[in-house]
Amino acid sequence: MSLSNPSDWDRTAAEYAQIPIQGPMYIPCTRMLEAMNNARSFSTASTTLDIGSGPGTVATLLFKNYGKHIPQTAKLIATDFSQGMVEAARMRKELEANSEDVHSAGCWARLELDVMDAQNLEKIATGSVSHITGSMVYFMLPDHKKGLSEAHRVLSDDGVFACTSWAKVGWMEFLTQAACKASKKTAPSVALPTIWKTTEGIKGEMEAAGFRGVHTEYVEALWHIPEPKKAVVAFTRSSNPGTEMIIKGLSEEELAVCRDEWVKLVEENGNVCKGIAVLGLGRK
Ligand SMILES: C[S@@+](CC[C@H](N)C(=O)[O-])C[C@H]1O[C@@H](n2cnc3c(N)ncnc32)[C@H](O)[C@@H]1O
Repeated sequence: MSLSNPSDWDRTAAEYAQIPIQGPMYIPCTRMLEAMNNARSFSTASTTLDIGSGPGTVATLLFKNYGKHIPQTAKLIATDFSQGMVEAARMRKELEANSEDVHSAGCWARLELDVMDAQNLEKIATGSVSHITGSMVYFMLPDHKKGLSEAHRVLSDDGVFACTSWAKVGWMEFLTQAACKASKKTAPSVALPTIWKTTEGIKGEMEAAGFRGVHTEYVEALWHIPEPKKAVVAFTRSSNPGTEMIIKGLSEEELAVCRDEWVKLVEENGNVCKGIAVLGLGRK
């Protein structure tokens, strides 16, 4: 079980696709697209490329918020190293290509989907992409330097690249706390690489990969959970590799206690879990 194994992500793809778009990724992803559009308008897009697309989170928000500005000639591509995630994105494409929002539907209909590892974009020509996004994926690459240099390679001159990572994931911290209480042992926490948790760290990595004019910022992402009891069941039943790492050793009884503890922690915090994302944006 690991964040860098495609088959672990395959197992969670169908559940991941069910997470409402207003879930934990919504604020960081919306801000990433806004910052990217400010840096280089989507109205100038020749090719957009989403890396680690999951079931199509970036595509959903990009096409909804900017679809009417994206030129009809622009090539739109979403990729993930998990076949299951690409299939989940394909199902969303079928649904969304028939939606009433004609601009968004038109973009979905044109979206090309492909299985691709972020560290090897050999199917994409050098200098061919105007906008590259990577929402919550670069920090989990075994060789993030290769991932960043591949993104830099395929970006066109003056193209823009943006990625997000997590500095703090409150709902996972609560899960670790709850699992510790339930098992009376130290539960494994998911350690995020230090350089991806700070604006300075990400800036340094992006500059080292050759990006210029790098801008980084923290983005507060409050996840409102109106029904924690319902949320915790979906959350702990999901095969998300991060969640599984924390709860994998728990017995059924311990898992029940862990769920109760998680609900208690969320309720004590006004049904809000706090996340802090880090955004990095740069040009070729
Ligand atoms: C936390 S999810 C984020 C999904 C989506 N970008 C979002 O914001 O909801 C991480 C995604 O990255 C993908 N992923 C992990 N490592 C990858 C790699 N080396 N190359 C491409 N995709 C990868 C996983 O399959 C998963 O879909």
